[in-house]
Amino acid sequence: MKFGILTSGGDCSGLNAVIRAICFYIERNVKNAEIVGIPDGYGGLIRGESYPLRHEDYDDILGLGGTILRTSRQPFKQMTVSDGGTTRLQKMCENYRKMGLDCLFTLGGAGTHKTAALLCMEGCNVVGLPKTIDNDIYGTDVTFGFQTAVEVATEAIDRIRTTAASHSRTMLIEIMGNKAGWLTLHAGIAAGADMILIPEIPFSVDKVCEFVAEQRRQCKTHTIIAVAEGAVLASEVKFKKSERTFVRTERGESTVTAHLAEVLQERTGFETRTSVLGYLQRGGTPCAYDRLLSSRLGGYAAKLACDGKFGVTAAVSGTRITFNALADIAGKYKFVSPSCETVRFAESIGIGFGR
Ligand code: F6P
Repeated sequence: MKFGILTSGGDCSGLNAVIRAICFYIERNVKNAEIVGIPDGYGGLIRGESYPLRHEDYDDILGLGGTILRTSRQPFKQMTVSDGGTTRLQKMCENYRKMGLDCLFTLGGAGTHKTAALLCMEGCNVVGLPKTIDNDIYGTDVTFGFQTAVEVATEAIDRIRTTAASHSRTMLIEIMGNKAGWLTLHAGIAAGADMILIPEIPFSVDKVCEFVAEQRRQCKTHTIIAVAEGAVLASEVKFKKSERTFVRTERGESTVTAHLAEVLQERTGFETRTSVLGYLQRGGTPCAYDRLLSSRLGGYAAKLACDGKFGVTAAVSGTRITFNALADIAGKYKFVSPSCETVRFAESIGIGFGR
């Protein structure tokens, strides 16, 4: 059997650990197996590029960040657009066949899964794996890469807290997550943030200002606010994303964080600063939890492929590893519910959400 592996979309910690586990499983369970890496995600498949993965390529990569296969973003919308008479999807299917693949492992996020579902519909044998620091893939309790990002963001907030305390400042820490607030919610709670602002719970600037002023009245000397990059003002909700982006671009900003900091300082009178964590959250060595999860998911996905179970993606349900049909989860997202137990518990211990 010949297996192809690609990593697609934004990277995260744990990709290499998954690649290693897939290869280890195949090496031990399939006679005369061939494994090839496809570089740059779907980009490599569109161009028809692949190279053999040898044992020494993946033997020692469990704790290595990034992806040895490299990655790229290939927007789903462009997959079916004709370019000189052929679509990218057609090119990928053609190259899948030319490469002689029996199965393709696609390690990626929600967008990657949508394209994987298309490939399946065109007759390619695909097994997906749920990757992303955003933890927003539908049908799995958790994605690999998420927990490492939570650890990184938590440690960053811990560090920011000490300087916030020294200067009696309000600090806004911007955390990745454009559509989903999982990372901000988990890191915010873990680091003891006073307030957490996420895309799923639009916030009011008045409420945030009142919250900070009240904390200071109660003799708290500094305030920590974890803000998801996709956090939205309640007043912005009625606008389309493109309209919000236009207004922010006019102000020279891409997120709401800088604007909020400016208003907060002006209205509360307390020095306010922002810190954008950015790609720190995606890079570096995976934490132990992600190494374990990635190894379990990789081994499980390889077994699915060896058993001829295609058109599926590995998933976590409670403590079990399981799978979902790609057709059932493609195009769906998993968001934080504003009334979920974690949010309610956070509010019950005094964490504000600006609502
Ligand atoms: O991979 C998810 C993510 O890190 C999001 O949290 C973030 O909004 C986005 O990717 C950034 O994308 P890019 O790498 O294209 O700048």
